[in-house]
Amino acid sequence: MKGLILSGGKGTRLYPLTYTLAKQLIPVANKPVLVRVIESIRDAGVGEIGVVIAPTTGQDIQNALGDGSQWGVKLTYIMQPSPDGLAHAVKISRDFLGDDRFVMFLGDNVIQGGINRLIGDFAGSVWNSQIVLKEVENPRSYGVAKLRPDGSIERLIEKPKDPPSNLALVGIYMFDSTIWEAVDAIKPSARGELEITDAIQWLIDAGRTVYPHVHQGWWIDTGKPMDMLEANSLVLEELTPAISPEAIIENSQIDRRVTIERGARIINSTVRGPAIIGEHTVIENSYVGPFTSIYHHVTVRDCEIERSIVLEHSTVQDLPVRLQDSLIGRHAVVCRNGERPKALKMNLGDHSTLWMA
Ligand code: TTP
Repeated sequence: MKGLILSGGKGTRLYPLTYTLAKQLIPVANKPVLVRVIESIRDAGVGEIGVVIAPTTGQDIQNALGDGSQWGVKLTYIMQPSPDGLAHAVKISRDFLGDDRFVMFLGDNVIQGGINRLIGDFAGSVWNSQIVLKEVENPRSYGVAKLRPDGSIERLIEKPKDPPSNLALVGIYMFDSTIWEAVDAIKPSARGELEITDAIQWLIDAGRTVYPHVHQGWWIDTGKPMDMLEANSLVLEELTPAISPEAIIENSQIDRRVTIERGARIINSTVRGPAIIGEHTVIENSYVGPFTSIYHHVTVRDCEIERSIVLEHSTVQDLPVRLQDSLIGRHAVVCRNGERPKALKMNLGDHSTLWMA
């Protein structure tokens, strides 16, 4: 069995962050989503993994992951010249995958409980494919499955106007070599992409066995800022807290569900969990509330922050109101300027959003 992680795409829904940063490298509870995906595949016993990358962000992904040995896996990078769809990403990975059975995992998805059982079930089966479904509240935004009374799949529909069920396709799929005929047979959809739902539908219509597993835990596709914050909250809730002996804590209250990494300094502050404070980050005269992840080399001074993600080398300082539900990029500065006239001053990139209290 091999692994295939899809880490190309454009990430337009996470602009402006994704103008300069691959969305799969955005950390959730201080660990990039892509690293969480690699660890899930590795923990399921699959060590040979192909990573599909885009020309824009591929180099950053390679720099971050290297050959994979840090996580005990062997990574092979596969360049997708343009984001022509999930089935296109599979198609261009044929040389790497050969005729092996494989698991394909979208590099921006986070799933509760790992994929050990899924991989075990598929490896021990004669199914041609296994897909993962999850009950969702808004099936119109997803690929949706219509099941027959016996539980087998009748039809898959991409973003249906009138959804036949609330079972959405989760970004984890398993295939055998019958997928090659399917990806060669399908044509681009109305949005110009080779859709994986069309390839799976082709397998069903050709009489192949596609087994639907309904996932019971949580699953998040981190495509939008609010999804990112939701994934961060869910992962933080499950994190086993740890305070590094190399962290400095002075005159501060630290909740029991807080992780503090090496070299961090917490001074005259309160940190309520679940929360994580990254390496060499300074929290001073501040309140850090639940569901907050502050990455490495950040300064938070004289302010309150809750349910947010702050990326590396940023500064959040002296704010008149609490910062919450925010996603702050790298090397960003959010601060108060006490000068008169009292006015908002900003230097925002394209597609930025600023909400005022
Ligand atoms: P999407 O979230 O569907 O697409 P996207 O990353 O381009 O984002 P947006 O819609 O905001 O512009 O992609 C899901 C995952 O699959 C993501 O990790 C990127 C990856 N992907 C590829 O590797 N190749 C592709 O052709 C596409 C469409 C996505």
